[in-house]
Amino acid sequence: MKFVDYMQLHQQRVNKALTALLPPETLAPTDLHQAMHYTIAAGGKRVRALLVYATGQAFAADLQVLDTVAAAVEFVHAYSLIHDDLPAMDDDDLRRGQPSCHKAFNEAVAILAGDALQSLAFAVLANISDTLLPAEYRAKMVYILAQAIGSQGMAGGQAYDLAAEGQSTIDYSQLIKIHNYKTGALIAASVCLGALAGRCDDQQKLDDLDQFAKNIGLAFQIRDDILDIESTTEMLGKQQGADLALQKATYPALLGLDESKRQAQALYEQAFDILDNIAGDFTHLKSLAGFIINREQ
Ligand code: IPE
Ligand code: IPE
Ligand code: MG
Ligand code: MG
Ligand code: MG
Repeated sequence: MKFVDYMQLHQQRVNKALTALLPPETLAPTDLHQAMHYTIAAGGKRVRALLVYATGQAFAADLQVLDTVAAAVEFVHAYSLIHDDLPAMDDDDLRRGQPSCHKAFNEAVAILAGDALQSLAFAVLANISDTLLPAEYRAKMVYILAQAIGSQGMAGGQAYDLAAEGQSTIDYSQLIKIHNYKTGALIAASVCLGALAGRCDDQQKLDDLDQFAKNIGLAFQIRDDILDIESTTEMLGKQQGADLALQKATYPALLGLDESKRQAQALYEQAFDILDNIAGDFTHLKSLAGFIINREQ
């Protein structure tokens, strides 16, 4: 199957799972449920879901399990975007081509929609039936995801990101830390959860996959930083130039565009080599790594 078709097929799969797992919009409190649906229905590339599918399939995971795991990481991601756009954070009015959640609803509803989406992610993971995936794997998945988005992961990275705004003293190692924490951690967790959904018990393989994922996670955020400069608001579905306006700590700001592109490419090549040395069929995962560094949105 061509990778574009693979992507489309699995984006459709996860969209279906996401909608099925959300509480109905008509359920009280309706504004909260509407805000959750609003954010999920706006789409997005579903890269983290695709990482779950592509990794899980390499371990012959049950597709139904992967649907739920893919939905869980996208619920977490959607929560992170809602909060990232809030006035207290990046203060962005546009997301996925439509008004940000706090603009379409209000700040309080947006905060709560983020909270509820995060909580839902853990609920759906824990609730996968025992016959489809034994509890030991579900417990591991819950732990890995929780670690990835906590104070030593995404939330910590967001705290560093905000603290670095307008600072001219940020060095390269701090920048790498911001990016690895705020973005890389969830991307690495998505890969790990895919493998665990396929009952991977091989610690060496999990470690190698983690190395692969850390490389593409960093490359993903470098590409995001580059697109903030080179793309358009229309193409991105979010405000172009937002990083410059807030004097964010980004790769282009610290290293320039050319060196940023060179580093993203180098990370991709390293990632590819790591994957090449893991036994198994990682064809789609390799294509996905390529998509991540070449994407235009
Ligand atoms: C945007 O993520 C936030 C970052 C971590 C850079 P995506 O670029 O994956 O956003 P969507 O899901 O496609 O909208
Ligand atoms: C977002 O990074 C990281 C998380 C949401 C955790 P950015 O702030 O660069 O993401 P965009 O550019 O607003 O999508
Ligand atoms: Mg941000
Ligand atoms: Mg932002
Ligand atoms: Mg950005």
